[in-house]
Amino acid sequence: MDILLGLQWGDEGKGKIVDYLAPKYDVVARFQGGPNAGHTLEFEGRKHVLHQIPSGIYHESITNIIGNGVVLDPVILKREILEIEKYGHQVNKNLFISKKAHIILPTHRLLDAALEKQKGDKKIGSTLKGIGPVYQDKIGRLGLRMGDILDSNFKEKYQGLVDNHKAILKRLEFDYDLEPLEKDFFEAIEFARGLNIVDSEAFINKAVKENKKIVAEGAQGSLLDVDFGSYPFVTSSNTTSAGACSGLGIAPNKIKEVFGIFKAYCTRVGSGPFPTELFDETGEKLRKEGHEFGATTGRPRRCGWIDLPALKYAIMVNGVTQLFMMKADVLNSFEEIQACTHYEMPDGSQTDDFPYDLDKSGVKPVLKSFKGWGELPKELSEENLPEALKTYIKFLEEELEVPIKIISFGPDRSETLLR
Ligand code: GDP
Ligand code: IMO
Ligand code: MG
Repeated sequence: MDILLGLQWGDEGKGKIVDYLAPKYDVVARFQGGPNAGHTLEFEGRKHVLHQIPSGIYHESITNIIGNGVVLDPVILKREILEIEKYGHQVNKNLFISKKAHIILPTHRLLDAALEKQKGDKKIGSTLKGIGPVYQDKIGRLGLRMGDILDSNFKEKYQGLVDNHKAILKRLEFDYDLEPLEKDFFEAIEFARGLNIVDSEAFINKAVKENKKIVAEGAQGSLLDVDFGSYPFVTSSNTTSAGACSGLGIAPNKIKEVFGIFKAYCTRVGSGPFPTELFDETGEKLRKEGHEFGATTGRPRRCGWIDLPALKYAIMVNGVTQLFMMKADVLNSFEEIQACTHYEMPDGSQTDDFPYDLDKSGVKPVLKSFKGWGELPKELSEENLPEALKTYIKFLEEELEVPIKIISFGPDRSETLLR
């Protein structure tokens, strides 16, 4: 199995590349996260955004698995499936969902909102999809799983958990109207009962045994990992490569390549530290040229230069074997491009280590300047790569000590150079 994951704060372009690589694979599997993700695919002049469904879904011959590590909102799942089916795809034919995937209840979403409100200016900037609360219930051994919807006593189990949630919401003095949300929820549960709910760990290990080619599709990014990210400004799952093992039930010795994907610059949405963030017109230009607005929430993404200490750290914890650089075209109109090579500490010393507490570390980026490459050829190839882009790529490969195997130069499937 190969793993593809983001090395920054999410939105690196994972959806595009999974869709691009999908023809090389038999199975695409999501292993963590849930509807907080928004993965964009573009082909044949259309744009599709997926939240919970793996990005191989538009290829008829590919099996798509939602693993045990994913948290699923049935309401969003139903909406996503119906949307894809509009394009003539029979989703149920090649989508398999783990019995062990935890279910996001309407009250998880309410709790997310209530808890964020309580945090005031320390809020995480959550997507408010219920991610933190549902993973809390999972680890707290209280959660409901997809397999439970097949039981006759599902409603009782549901009510038990919801009563818990109501008590917390009361304590948080949070107003809500649950009734319409529950109506949608139970309609979606009924719909989900007709889907393929399976023992996905057995299913996927059978595929491994049969030498099927599998790619695990990460959500979020390494710097949002609950253990290794910029805690507490993170999501609530392991977004790094180890998460693919626990989130699918695949043993570490089955992992082959780890594809680490990053933007030629850097973005972040939500709160938390971002050492290379630009607050000036250059940042504004990155946002404009890169259309940097969230695929899930529509929020403007914070933009800045590429951050090598953070990338090196992400490469280390993931064991990245190949790098894919995205959105090179966004920098076309920049005469000068910068890259952060080190952090300057408050005492004036420099480091390329990723600090324990990035938020309070007071680091300043040490920047190295590069010449821009201007307009890229429409049909980018190894032969017509502009010299300035070659220099940038070579510099990154030397610093990061991993080869860059894909350059993406536009949102469409076809705007991809495989090296
Ligand atoms: P994901 O969450 O990692 O799948 O990324 P998102 O879909 O949230 O955000 C990536 C955005 O960049 C989407 O709007 C993509 O269509 C777009 N995109 C992906 N690759 C490229 C690229 O090489 N160039 C440009 N200009 N846009 C890209
Ligand atoms: P994809 O898969 C970018 C961010 C949120 C917030 C923090 C916690 O599209 O790359 P959560 O809803 O998980 O409680 O939010 O993580 N975040 C993402 N940022 N891309 C994502 O997913 C994200 N999923 C969550 O903005 O700062
Ligand atoms: Mg996204």
